[in-house]
Amino acid sequence: MPKPRVFVSRQIFDEAVSLLQTEADVEVWEDELPPPRDTLLEKVNGVDGLLCLLTDKVDGELMDAAGPQLKVISQIAVGFDNIDVPEATRRGIPVGNTPEVLTQTTADATWALMMAAARKIVDGSAAAHDGRWRTWHPLHYLGQDVYGATLGVLGLGRIGLEVAKRASGFDMKVLYSDIFRNEAAEKEHGLRYVDQDTLLRESDFVSIHTVLNDETYHLIGEKALAKMKSNAVLVNASRGPVVDPKALYEALKSGQIWAAALDVTEPEPIPLDDPLLTLDNCVIVPHIASATYATRGEMSRLSAQNVLNGLKGDRLVTCVNPEVYD
Ligand code: GLV
Repeated sequence: MPKPRVFVSRQIFDEAVSLLQTEADVEVWEDELPPPRDTLLEKVNGVDGLLCLLTDKVDGELMDAAGPQLKVISQIAVGFDNIDVPEATRRGIPVGNTPEVLTQTTADATWALMMAAARKIVDGSAAAHDGRWRTWHPLHYLGQDVYGATLGVLGLGRIGLEVAKRASGFDMKVLYSDIFRNEAAEKEHGLRYVDQDTLLRESDFVSIHTVLNDETYHLIGEKALAKMKSNAVLVNASRGPVVDPKALYEALKSGQIWAAALDVTEPEPIPLDDPLLTLDNCVIVPHIASATYATRGEMSRLSAQNVLNGLKGDRLVTCVNPEVYD
């Protein structure tokens, strides 16, 4: 019997490719950049399994291009807004993602962004490199205190909760808003459940951890930003389009809010002529919140295991549409 075929749409850890090769003929897309759409449609033709990234649009057209033998779609990321999950479900195809293994690492990175923006770490580092550091000056590089401040967590999922937990070391008050209330977390970690407007009005730091969907697209736009404090720092390590970039630029430029730190942008990568890049109160990094050796290794392994389970018809370790098994 020929082995099932799997297409992996970018390089992942070698160990994960070897794991896939125990059961499948594997083709890995070796370029740094994603396969162009036409190439992706060609590459998936006839595959039994697809290991994809958030930069690949996985829709009905792609599933048609793959063919009816496609048994599993496995995303190496926790978010999966690039995948038409209802369409996969309609076709009985399980879709995997990589939750849990990246939660702590992403929460750490969120804090790194928050601290970097609050204490002007990026601009300060640039100043040290480019000669702007000429003396110790009482009025230079003034930032915002993190300890004792109020943190507002928008979306208390796994990552939001871990971000909230880390705040206790800084003696912060923590507010959260979410469509679901988590009373156990409130009791255990001293969090306060508030509506979104209260969170925006009262927080010194607002950290976004929502999924991207029709309800959260540009959730943080002109109106939301107008409710925030003038000393506030906005952190986004969720998905770029949750924040309206034009409104954010205006708010940062006018001093409506004090700073922002973005792991994600709309679009990605951020175009070099995007005005956000002209601001020294906007820290921007290239969607790296889960990027540690250990975590990307775990994500590679888990996404490969999901492919193998899907090929065998076993339940995926982490499946976003478990209704396919009903
Ligand atoms: C990265 O953004 C992820 O969803 O894992």
